[in-house]
Amino acid sequence: MDQAQTVDWAALEAAAVAAMKNAYAPYSKFPVGAAALTRDGRIVSGCNVENASYGLTLCAECVLVGNLQMTGGGLLRAFYCVDGAGNILMPCGRCRQLLYEFRAPDMQVRTTQGIKTMDQVLPDAFGPEHLKETR
Ligand code: THU
Repeated sequence: MDQAQTVDWAALEAAAVAAMKNAYAPYSKFPVGAAALTRDGRIVSGCNVENASYGLTLCAECVLVGNLQMTGGGLLRAFYCVDGAGNILMPCGRCRQLLYEFRAPDMQVRTTQGIKTMDQVLPDAFGPEHLKETR
C-alpha cells in the first residue's frame, strides 16, 4: 500500500474495539484494544492480557506487535487504541517505545487530541539507530 493513501480510521477503530472484547483483564477490569495498519495494508491488533503476578501484564500494544511479527512483519502506518468503552486511549510510555520500533516513516497515531505522528507522541526517542553508535 502506498504511504500517501488515506487511512481508514473507522476500520482501525472497529478492529481495536473487536480486539478489546478479547481482553483478559480480571484484575484491573480495564480492557484495552489496539489496532494498526501496516504498510502493506494488513490490520493487526491486540488486547491486554493480565497476570496474577500483576507486573507481568501484557499491554494491548505488546500483543499487537507480537501479532505483527507473527503475521508477516513489516512496519506500522497508523495506530488506534481504545478502552473498554471504545474511547480513544493513549498508549502508555512503554508501549510508545514498542510502537516506535515498528513505525513506518510518518506513522500516525490517533490520539485524544487528534492525529499525531509517532515522533510527536515519543519525541527524542531512543531507537535502533542509537545502538550503532557504540559498535
Ligand atoms: N494497558 C494497555 O493495554 N495499554 C496501554 O497503553 C495502557 C494500559 C492495560 C494494562 C492493564 O491491563 C490495564 O490497561 C490497566 O492499566
